[in-house]
Amino acid sequence: MRFFLILICIGASAFAQQLPVIPLPNQYVKLEGKFSLSSNTPIIVGDEAFRPQANYLQQEMLRSADLTLNLQNKSTAPAIIINRLKPDAGKAGSYQLLIKANEIRISSASEEGIFYAINSLMQLVRESALKGYPVLINSWDIRDQPQYAWRGLMLDESRQFFGKETVKFILDWMAFYKLNRFHWHLTDEPGWRIEIKKYPKLTLVGGIGDFTNRFSPAKYYTQDEIREIVAYARERFITVIPEIDMPGHAGASNRAYPEYSGGGSEKYPDFTFNPAKKETYDFLTDILKETNSLFPSDMVHLGGDEVHFGNENWNKDAHVQQLMKEKKMPDLKSVEHYFIQRMADSLAKMNNKVLLWDEAADSDLPPANTVIFWWRHDKPAQLKHALSKGYQVVLSPRLPLYFDFVQDSTHRVGRRWEGGFNTLERVYNFSPAKLHSAEQTRLVLGIQGALWTERIPQVNKLEYMLFPRISALAEASWTREQNKGYKGFEERLKAHMEIYRKDKIYFFNPFVPLENPEPRIAGAKDN
Ligand code: ACM
Repeated sequence: MRFFLILICIGASAFAQQLPVIPLPNQYVKLEGKFSLSSNTPIIVGDEAFRPQANYLQQEMLRSADLTLNLQNKSTAPAIIINRLKPDAGKAGSYQLLIKANEIRISSASEEGIFYAINSLMQLVRESALKGYPVLINSWDIRDQPQYAWRGLMLDESRQFFGKETVKFILDWMAFYKLNRFHWHLTDEPGWRIEIKKYPKLTLVGGIGDFTNRFSPAKYYTQDEIREIVAYARERFITVIPEIDMPGHAGASNRAYPEYSGGGSEKYPDFTFNPAKKETYDFLTDILKETNSLFPSDMVHLGGDEVHFGNENWNKDAHVQQLMKEKKMPDLKSVEHYFIQRMADSLAKMNNKVLLWDEAADSDLPPANTVIFWWRHDKPAQLKHALSKGYQVVLSPRLPLYFDFVQDSTHRVGRRWEGGFNTLERVYNFSPAKLHSAEQTRLVLGIQGALWTERIPQVNKLEYMLFPRISALAEASWTREQNKGYKGFEERLKAHMEIYRKDKIYFFNPFVPLENPEPRIAGAKDN
């Protein structure tokens, strides 16, 4: 009995010493004392280049902790000091956050690192503020840097259009959790969501409908709105990557401009672009030119997935048959690769990287300019194949990183794969190192969660699928394997759930599953 008690104490004190930040910083030490934060605490900016980050800190203090902090140049104590380190201090995004009784010192060689330090600090502030004012923050010495450069989240707005306030809400939470790539799936069968000035019918006609209602009025982002969202993300060190899916998943575009349709199959009519017409390549290249002008990421995701769902018509299309004869193509796969190659060439001329789902690992695109997204968890050989050809990869396997899968055995609205689904713990324990050799580590850019939205027609459901799994995704992508631990994560997450409650987020609570029941949605497809 006594032995048992001692064990419990060790366990409890280990958690008590755990820094309550998600993702868990990679190095930290607990110090003595507490900093007392109030609206009288000044923010001292040592380097003018950090002023936007200092403004962000002010905004967040006001928005989420009701504190009005002023910026000033002359040093006093106590204060929050933002400080520049020498350029060689750590890798991209590394930062130091030193909290002592009389000062909070935020230091980095880069704006990005300062931003991450601010978000670690804001987590501590928000948690402490829930306990009352003045806000007392424990002292810590934190030195941190990300494990992976790519810490992504994908949102499908073709199936359901949520609009810019929801996108900004997602970007805010991505920033809170240090996620830094927003992959925006803007075109697919149900709707085309990005305004292209040269082809207005893409949105006026292609924007009509969504997964739940084929006839709902056109919904899309104007180019001004896209610029606004890209700028909002950029302030949060999030790169936005648009996806214009091709040659499959082209239905919305084909409704607007049927002259570029390659047809489909019985189940998926008008699913593809026509890969044999010069006009199709001109049309899509024009679209990519406008797309490129809106997104400073210099990357476009061209999809390339599931073409075989609906390319049967290529067997009958006179243009495609002629092309196959001319180029001596043995099968439709070769046509698909020819199409992808041509569009990748167009993007390369715009100095853009080409991002594609893992089907494209079978084509002959140049590794230096191509990133492959592994999504078919049941085809690990496809990931190996991509890596063996020297492609950089982002790991986004359906199991465990698709958040349209249910997260609890009792949940009904969402996907499963042969019974498998994506609990918080499975997301947390996703471990890329098991999937590749040590030499291939340099090719693994990082990991990405995906919110496909066939079964997510409303915002409370979106929140339910995203929270709390977004926090597990963040820790899996930021924190080194040897520093992770699910039990400790659970303790930190309980505190974060208080923040979710305060912000009125409709989240799934794995500790008290009935706190927020699964939203029941009229018209949504059950499993
Ligand atoms: C995908 O889930 N079709 C990439």
